[in-house]
Amino acid sequence: MKLLIPGGAGYIGSHMVKYAQAGGHDVVVLDDLSTGHRSSIKDCELINVNLLDKENLDKLLRGRKFDGIIHFAAKSIVGESMQFPNVYYENNVIGSINLINNMLQNDNENIVFSSTAAIFGNPLTDKISEDHPKNPINTYGKTKLFVEEILKDFCSSYDINATCFRYFNAAGADISGEIGEDHNPETHLIPNIFNSFINKKNDLKIFGNNYPTYDGTCIRDYIHVTDLAQAHLLGLEKMKTIKGFSAYNLGNGNGFSILDIINGCQKIIGENISYDVVSRRPGDPAILIADSTKAKNELDWMPKFFDIDIILKSAWNWHKKS
Ligand code: UFG
Repeated sequence: MKLLIPGGAGYIGSHMVKYAQAGGHDVVVLDDLSTGHRSSIKDCELINVNLLDKENLDKLLRGRKFDGIIHFAAKSIVGESMQFPNVYYENNVIGSINLINNMLQNDNENIVFSSTAAIFGNPLTDKISEDHPKNPINTYGKTKLFVEEILKDFCSSYDINATCFRYFNAAGADISGEIGEDHNPETHLIPNIFNSFINKKNDLKIFGNNYPTYDGTCIRDYIHVTDLAQAHLLGLEKMKTIKGFSAYNLGNGNGFSILDIINGCQKIIGENISYDVVSRRPGDPAILIADSTKAKNELDWMPKFFDIDIILKSAWNWHKKS
């Protein structure tokens, strides 16, 4: 397939690019490199444009045909979204509308959208399935939910198909160790644990230990980035036969607390990691765990790197070299 991957130079996007190329697909990346890295992508055309730059977007993509568009280009930091909602609504919602309109102009039919567990807000059930009520408690989650709704409406009115994947906590690094998680500034738990150790800064903070969980720290469902990439290609394959809008939750169905993750990282590096407990971070639900039965049943999605130690080892393998 010929694939356009907006946001393909970012963390999850670059793993998608690598996975698609390994499967023999022809990839074009669209990325403004505002948070992504040119060095994370190889052997593909890069279209360097911001989705808000409608004029250049339309010019650069005019007449170009793709079997599928896998859309990762977005701002994705929960805390930042609470501070600068304008930036998030603009980038994530208006940017996506520009991309979808461009898709319509060029008669491109299939889009896979990178969504998030943050659309659900505080869980009402132990595991979150697709029909769980959607009440995001942060702006980031709201922007992703709005784009899902826009895609749903566009699928009813136009000749396009959309598949949304709600990731729980994307984690780990490509098993080759060539690419990994590299945000600047870094806000995510696993890279922050390893960076605090590598940089000998001892600056790791736990945001709250008074949540209603077994050890008081937040519980998340960590899912390997390469397993996310696998689901995206399966989603595109399915759109060849089943048309319209669909959405799937992607996680391993296992919850780990922040302290569990710190302990797991300590075991891997064989040393203690010091940390301070500070106050809660705004917008953090206590527990997020996926029910991914639908993706497994309908897409034959089979995560390969579901063992948390393998996820953490792959991240460490990359961080210790980078
Ligand atoms: N945390 C810390 N210290 C840190 C970093 C994080 O205690 O230095 C805590 C957070 O407060 C949270 C947990 O570790 O409780 C996980 O935080 P991350 O920032 O790693 O991930 P989030 O759960 O906030 O967010 C991730 C994605 C979002 C997505 C969400 C859905 O970044 O895009 O998962 O589950 F919406």
